[in-house]
Amino acid sequence: MSARRVVLAYSGGLDTSVAIPWLAERGWDVIAVAVDVGQPGDLHEAVGRALQLGASDSRLVDARADFVDRFVLPALQMNALYQGRYPLVSALSRPLISQVLVQVARETGASAVAHGCTGKGNDQVRFEVALGALAPDLEVLAPVRDWGMGRDDTIAYALERDLPIRTTKSSPYSIDENVWGRSIECGVLEDPWAAPPEDVYEITQDPRSASLAGREIELHFEAGVPTALEGESLEALHLIEAVGKIAGSFGFGRIDLVEDRLVGIKSREVYEAPGALSLIAAHQDLENLTLERAYLLEKRKLETTWTRIVYEGLWFSPLREAIDAFVSSSSDAVTGDVRLRLGPGSCSPVGRRSPHALYDHALATYDEGDSFRHEDAAGFVKLWGLPTKQWAKSRV
Ligand code: ARG
Repeated sequence: MSARRVVLAYSGGLDTSVAIPWLAERGWDVIAVAVDVGQPGDLHEAVGRALQLGASDSRLVDARADFVDRFVLPALQMNALYQGRYPLVSALSRPLISQVLVQVARETGASAVAHGCTGKGNDQVRFEVALGALAPDLEVLAPVRDWGMGRDDTIAYALERDLPIRTTKSSPYSIDENVWGRSIECGVLEDPWAAPPEDVYEITQDPRSASLAGREIELHFEAGVPTALEGESLEALHLIEAVGKIAGSFGFGRIDLVEDRLVGIKSREVYEAPGALSLIAAHQDLENLTLERAYLLEKRKLETTWTRIVYEGLWFSPLREAIDAFVSSSSDAVTGDVRLRLGPGSCSPVGRRSPHALYDHALATYDEGDSFRHEDAAGFVKLWGLPTKQWAKSRV
């Protein structure tokens, strides 16, 4: 009888490494899939190790371009910042990894897929809701949630079986990283009163050692998509990396947040997202220049909804698609240039221009050349204030 086959989302880290023999011992034929969404480290080496751990097949899928096009850029269109601060880094990759798992399951005739999330986080929700939407027939296994082992037990399990896991440089933190940023949890960060130690940060410099002189960078956007940095055309993936490097060198993009998880827990989360925060700042600023007032107001409200539902694992939902449709009706206006000024730990737009700018100097100026009809204002103000005046009169 052939073993039941499962496709495992495999990162090469301790938990998903141990998950391979754990599933194999329970009669599963394991196919390990590592999805490259821009995390650092040697994924080729990790994929090779999966075979030694007992997987019957292991694959590396480079999904970076797809991740940027279908998840990161839409998040930028929505200026997506959960609780006003967190650019959804991990929340964006889960629906894509789910799609890859389903694709490999279909190719290999697997009857199940597996993820390595614990029972306390948002990621289990994101995987399972996405998988339910994409392939309701597949069984979903969550070995790390089910096995009831703590980190020490997991290490002991690996040592007992002499598993080839990388115990060198074991970080005290739980880290998830992709093109859009880096999430850091656990260890000393679990004390929300303790400042994050410098060693949690990898992609941002200490802002205290950044150049006081600062620097400016110029970004070009076409229909809401960043397409050039300092006048040089770049693919979005490379542009995000390049902006992240520059902003990170100023110590910009660090986030220390007490966050509301979907499962009801408040947790202390630290993030580094220098590229994401710089690009969102620039994009938002260009929207203020190019989008009509009432539309912009409504978009800002929908951004909050979009961000919340994506955080909460509802990527594959009619509401998310409907909000994307609302936004696509106007995004072509968001074309132009933004100048960002970087300093130690800071990044601010200091200049913007667009062929679609709604800013009209003749209307705005207090100087010579004013074309605003001041006499129109008097009647407008009277009518605008009329309901308030009537209400006030009725109260006397
Ligand atoms: N709290 C963040 C989120 O829910 C980060 C999750 C990071 N995941 C991890 N395995 N460290 O999106």
